[in-house]
Amino acid sequence: MSELYGEVQKLKERYPDWHSATLPALQLAQEKHGHLSPEALRECADALGTTPAVCKAVASFYDLLHLAPVGRHMVEVCTNVSCALVGAQQVLEAFEGELGISAGETTPDGTVTLRPIECLGGCGWATIVSVDHHYRTHVKPDDVAGIVQELRDGD
Ligand code: FES
Repeated sequence: MSELYGEVQKLKERYPDWHSATLPALQLAQEKHGHLSPEALRECADALGTTPAVCKAVASFYDLLHLAPVGRHMVEVCTNVSCALVGAQQVLEAFEGELGISAGETTPDGTVTLRPIECLGGCGWATIVSVDHHYRTHVKPDDVAGIVQELRDGD
């Protein structure tokens, strides 16, 4: 039995219905594998007592769960209405230019994954950019080079 199996059994004990443990189990599997690879999905499914297809279907719905490898840093630019109105697209394009990748891609060195994302709940502080799940507010295209440099310096 894998280490994940034991941890998922403990998760299942917390809920009257094992289905409720699916999300935390997927998060655990992602922490251990880096992303939800077919192997990670299989391990998670075995531990939950379901199929990898069920796990994949659930995982595919949530932005925080990754079915493909991601970079060491995650940059997410909100492109929903409030952010779009103050130039989110230009911010996203500035990141694309600075990183040399398109939205949805990871830099070849595996440092940064860039992606557009729906409303992050910070509409009053648009444009919101989430950097490793920490929000940057009122981000303008001119701020992008500095943010990318911070990430490169931090590695
Ligand atoms: S629209 Fe960007 S945070 Fe809500």
